[in-house]
Amino acid sequence: MNEEKIEQIIKKYQHKKGILIQLLLDIQKELNWIPPNIIKKISETLNIPVSHIYRVASFYAALSLKPIGTHLIQVCLGTACHVRGGSKILDAVEDFLKIKAGNTTDDMTFTLSGVNCLGCCAQGPMLMVGNDYYGGVKPTNVKGILEKYK
Ligand code: FES
Repeated sequence: MNEEKIEQIIKKYQHKKGILIQLLLDIQKELNWIPPNIIKKISETLNIPVSHIYRVASFYAALSLKPIGTHLIQVCLGTACHVRGGSKILDAVEDFLKIKAGNTTDDMTFTLSGVNCLGCCAQGPMLMVGNDYYGGVKPTNVKGILEKYK
């Protein structure tokens, strides 16, 4: 962790109001998650209660209170994808990575998440790796897709 950079980010928002979400997004972008020691530092520096920071950080899906791997995999389990076999895609990803949804591989390469909709229901079942969308995914495609990110 680049502590100097984190200090700079926090100080940038000193003496400003209504900045917590943007500050947390900046930290998330830098570290890929919001560690407890950074929450304490934000609280002390900006005089914001720790409980409030946790409440905000746990509310927004873009913020994570757990370390996230280099590649976030999102498997859609929304209705349109579900009827086209979304849960089988999730099973295939879990089998390939040997982790369950909500977890990160030991080497911190992948974090797996099941989500409700990726906004392209007609192309389901959908899978997203980072910013890359994959539509019409079959369980047999999963290995080939994920190998590219290793
Ligand atoms: S339900 Fe899967 S993309 Fe919308």
